Amino acid sequence: MAGSQALFMAVFVFAITFQASMVNANIAKSMYFNWGAQHSSILGNGDDLRLVLDQTSGSGIQSKRAFLFGSIEMLIKLVPGNSAGTVTAYYLSSTGANHDEIDFEFLGNSTGEPYTVHTNIFTQGQGNREQQFKLWFDPSADYHNYTIHWNPSEVVWYVDSVPIRVYRNYVSEGIAYPNQQGMRVYSSLWNADNWATRGGLVKIDWTAAPFVANYRRFRARACKWNGPVSISQCAIPTPANWWTSPVYQRLSNGQQGQLKWVRDNYMIYNYCTDFKRFNGQMAPECSKPQM
Ligand SMILES: *[C@@H]1O[C@H](CO)[C@@H](O)[C@H](O)[C@H]1NC(C)=O
Ligand SMILES: *[C@@H]1O[C@H](CO)[C@@H](O)[C@H](O)[C@H]1NC(C)=O
Repeated sequence: MAGSQALFMAVFVFAITFQASMVNANIAKSMYFNWGAQHSSILGNGDDLRLVLDQTSGSGIQSKRAFLFGSIEMLIKLVPGNSAGTVTAYYLSSTGANHDEIDFEFLGNSTGEPYTVHTNIFTQGQGNREQQFKLWFDPSADYHNYTIHWNPSEVVWYVDSVPIRVYRNYVSEGIAYPNQQGMRVYSSLWNADNWATRGGLVKIDWTAAPFVANYRRFRARACKWNGPVSISQCAIPTPANWWTSPVYQRLSNGQQGQLKWVRDNYMIYNYCTDFKRFNGQMAPECSKPQM
């Protein structure tokens, strides 16, 4: 196993070139509204974004470019107060039937009740890999750093640089991994009161509208993707220190300790332990190390 994985990685590394590449452009330059632009706005020097949900519609934004691997970073300050029924999503997705997707979704709650951070990953059109967490802070009081770190060997979801989830590449063992197609970055704020808060029991209180989620400092230190033919031009960014060992980087021992702390204290749902839902037929990655 180790051998075939190493061989796979070696072949893969050969197929891509390592050049510096960092899309350091701000939100205004690198993204556009795909929904609800009439009541949302890009502010400041183009580095700040305000997504709005009211009774007329939600809103959303997406990156102009697609990426294949990278560190996708955003500071987000979630809807404050009574955010029950609202969902703020921040995710990567490709298009088409066998799409890949890596999700952060923030499920709002009644005033004073905790948000739920919902994560998922789709590979070749297949999801059903949800994990949910509580946070160790109030995510509506200030901006916090939500980063998706996606490289050929693993996907890591970070909150303020603390890893909360890892999905590793086990392609060599027949488990799909998102490494064949580029993904764009999306974010949106919408009405999900049919399921989001306490399973849909708590509805949106429209007297509290408009609901606003604030964003700033979008950074994609990422490999630009121009379609399958140009995979060889896909560049891994340097010299950012989190990626100096670009392909093989794994969590350090300290980060693994942080991940364990989050899982022990803040994880509230894990598809890998939901035997009832899957009738005991658990996804194959559930029996592999995920850190
Ligand atoms: C956000 O978190 C990522 C991952 O830990 C880190 O590389 C990046 O520097 C952070 N950005 C900010 C603005 O703190
Ligand atoms: C909302 O708060 C309730 C009560 O604390 C909690 O059970 C629930 O998990 C929270 N989150 C969501 C999204 O319902």
